[in-house]
Amino acid sequence: MSSASSEPSEFLAVVILGASGDLAQRKIYPALFALYCQGFLPASFKVYGYARSTFSPEEWGERILSRLTCRYTPAADCAAHMQSFMEHGVYRSGSYSEPSGFVAMREEIQRDAGGRLVHVLLYFALPSTVFPEAANMIGRAGWTGGPGFTGWMRCVMEKPFGRDLESFRRLTDELSGNFQESQIYRIDHYLGKEVVQNLLVLRFGNLIFEPFWNRHYVERIELSWYEDMGVGERGAYFDRYGIVRDVMQNHLLQMAALIGMEHPREVPGGVRDEKVKLLKSFSTALSEHCVLGQYEAGMLNGERHSAYTDEASVEVDSHTATYAECVLWANNARWAGVPFVLRAGKGCGERKTEIQLVFRETALNPFAGESGALGSNRLVIRVQPDEKIYLRVNTKRPGLAWTIDEQDLQLHYQSVFSEQIPDAYEALLLEVLKGDRSLFLRSDELEASWAIFTPLLHAMDENRVVVEKYAFGSMGPTGIFKP
Ligand SMILES: NC(=O)c1ccc[n+]([C@@H]2O[C@H](COP(=O)([O-])OP(=O)(O)OC[C@H]3O[C@@H](n4cnc5c(N)ncnc54)[C@H](OP(=O)(O)O)[C@@H]3O)[C@@H](O)[C@H]2O)c1
Repeated sequence: MSSASSEPSEFLAVVILGASGDLAQRKIYPALFALYCQGFLPASFKVYGYARSTFSPEEWGERILSRLTCRYTPAADCAAHMQSFMEHGVYRSGSYSEPSGFVAMREEIQRDAGGRLVHVLLYFALPSTVFPEAANMIGRAGWTGGPGFTGWMRCVMEKPFGRDLESFRRLTDELSGNFQESQIYRIDHYLGKEVVQNLLVLRFGNLIFEPFWNRHYVERIELSWYEDMGVGERGAYFDRYGIVRDVMQNHLLQMAALIGMEHPREVPGGVRDEKVKLLKSFSTALSEHCVLGQYEAGMLNGERHSAYTDEASVEVDSHTATYAECVLWANNARWAGVPFVLRAGKGCGERKTEIQLVFRETALNPFAGESGALGSNRLVIRVQPDEKIYLRVNTKRPGLAWTIDEQDLQLHYQSVFSEQIPDAYEALLLEVLKGDRSLFLRSDELEASWAIFTPLLHAMDENRVVVEKYAFGSMGPTGIFKP
């Protein structure tokens, strides 16, 4: 299948491992439904959910139906679309410690395909510690090689890809026995976000930005990710990984790479080569260039929230950071001396992901007598929520006096575009169906990303870095570049 369009002689099996989990139910099934409603799934397909839990067909149907939304179908047709989508799905319970569940599923897929060419999209919506075992059972059940399948097989894998450089290499090695690198689609869903994709058009489709996109004009680059929730039900996972592994080493670093990289030879095809070059040029994150924090109990919107160490499944004496600000420098001609400030925090006062290019101050201020200091220009890219891009400029307030004010030249998505903003998982699953890996992470990219953070992570694991407390609902501790 060369595109997502349907071919009657072909059959697509979407197999979701860990189908009972949060990611599968909240993101993957709704994204598949959205693609189905827009006609991006082939005529002949079936979704096979797989996990260890048992559900009756009715229970399973209710769970999935409750998560589907009608964004792409007129309300009157939506129930019918949901019903027909559900007829394309089954749930199978089985284990990862022996191959019989996968043997049975292979036989079922082949029966369903009825002699057509079979393509398999295999989604690992599982803790990454289970990937090698699951991959081995899939191999032993004859999915790869032997009786295998006749068409392509593509494996989508979710972060975290290991815990540090060494465990990432081990994981890659363990998976290589069953899957080739060309079959692996490592997902960072931030690369599927509309505004993040628009960074490429903003930078490379507009002549005006290029002359300013360098150390001569940019004083610093800030990438901030704030969440107004605690760890909720993901306490056990989060306490093992922490904010640097969960958000900074992947989502923030990926956005930094798109902001800082050189011109790719083509978009999106050449983007990964340029991202890797920039990632390799970054300094190692040092503890003296990082501020770490952990939330204590606090108030937000009139509600009291528990301290991190009182969350379910979190160790009471945990030192895991829920907040981090780290400063990196790129050792290249474009960015030498410009700090890339990466900041991520849970339990903060608002939910916001934003990139800011803070420009240098003007050399002379002809309005000094009237206005005091002129504000620095800023290009702000709001990734979520309420997507927008704006340029903060100094302007004259209307009136007879020369009063200078800061205002924004703004592209506000909701005001300007009538189109739906697709969920990142819709955009990325469509790329998997097309067989385009440009928006997925290559292993050398992850090597470079882990190399930046591994020494800091080891120091944090050994409690060698101070973790300051901050109140839930605040914006984290005072940082190097933050008041
Ligand atoms: N949730 C998110 O928003 C999100 C975002 C980004 C990345 N991710 C990543 O995506 C993957 C899935 O996330 P998730 O939140 O859905 O995870 P999850 O709920 O913890 O796990 C998904 C399913 O995997 C199975 N599972 C859990 N532990 C297992 C074990 N030790 N051995 C075998 N099976 C096990 C469970 O199903 P059964 O017990 O029924 O087998 C569970 O329902 C993880 O790697 C996560 O880090 C998640």
